[in-house]
Amino acid sequence: MRLEKRISLITGAAGGIGRATALRFASEGAIVIATDIRMEACNETLSLLEEVGGSGMVVQCDMTHEEEVTALYRRITECYGRLDVVVNIAGGDTEPAADVTEIDYVKMSANIELNLSSCIISCREAARLMKSQGSGRIVNMSSLVYRGGPNQFSYSAAKGGIYAFTRSLAMSLGHYGITVNALAPALVEVPAFVAALGAERWEMLRKECAARYPLGRVATPDDVAGCALFLASDDAAFITGQIIEISGGARL
Ligand SMILES: NC(=O)c1ccc[n+]([C@@H]2O[C@H](COP(=O)([O-])OP(=O)(O)OC[C@H]3O[C@@H](n4cnc5c(N)ncnc54)[C@H](O)[C@@H]3O)[C@@H](O)[C@H]2O)c1
Repeated sequence: MRLEKRISLITGAAGGIGRATALRFASEGAIVIATDIRMEACNETLSLLEEVGGSGMVVQCDMTHEEEVTALYRRITECYGRLDVVVNIAGGDTEPAADVTEIDYVKMSANIELNLSSCIISCREAARLMKSQGSGRIVNMSSLVYRGGPNQFSYSAAKGGIYAFTRSLAMSLGHYGITVNALAPALVEVPAFVAALGAERWEMLRKECAARYPLGRVATPDDVAGCALFLASDDAAFITGQIIEISGGARL
């Protein structure tokens, strides 16, 4: 068991990647705090992880509301007295495929708030707890578009911001025994994406990407979960400030 009894907070745990990460962590012995805004699906994640012998709890939290994030961390402190790992996964593109001339202030701000500000505030709370423990693992969700994307402006800016913030945090928290890293997946097949595009458009996108990625397929949520597990585990004890591309070689 690579995460035996490690108290692990996973945000976005009702979603495709968040659920896979919660299950993977639970199967490695972690005690999982699963949080999301979608409670029914988040409770389903908890049931699934209990089926594999895991344990934990569900807490509802809108990560874009600072007071809810502080309440979440307060609850963790009250229940467990410590936090070993946080994986900040909650996010998504609120302004997909917009032309640069059509950037919308409200949608752009939503992208920054959902993907970047929420991560910064979550990390602030985690740092307060982890600094006093003298240990901790922080894993943030970026995206391969942190390098830039031709039709994802505010989303790529937010995910690029996560990379810069992750490095800054790694520089500041290393002396406290805390590592901070980021994940940068290329296209991952998750139910929300397939539903949003519709089966036919999804299939076209999947085929187009699979043909372009050297490894010949798009990612599964478990590909990402495995990398989060590695970064949270003792095997990654000397890795910090890094962004790991889970991309099948999409942009070499
Ligand atoms: N699927 C991909 O191709 C891909 C690629 C790169 C990065 N990502 C990133 O991975 C993360 C997970 O995405 P996914 O693909 O599993 O999609 P998903 O939509 O299945 O999961 C996102 C989860 O975040 C939750 N969420 C949304 N707003 C929230 C809020 N304000 N507070 C708390 N939770 C909130 C949603 O309810 C959902 O359960 C996101 O940050 C996304 O940007 C996804």
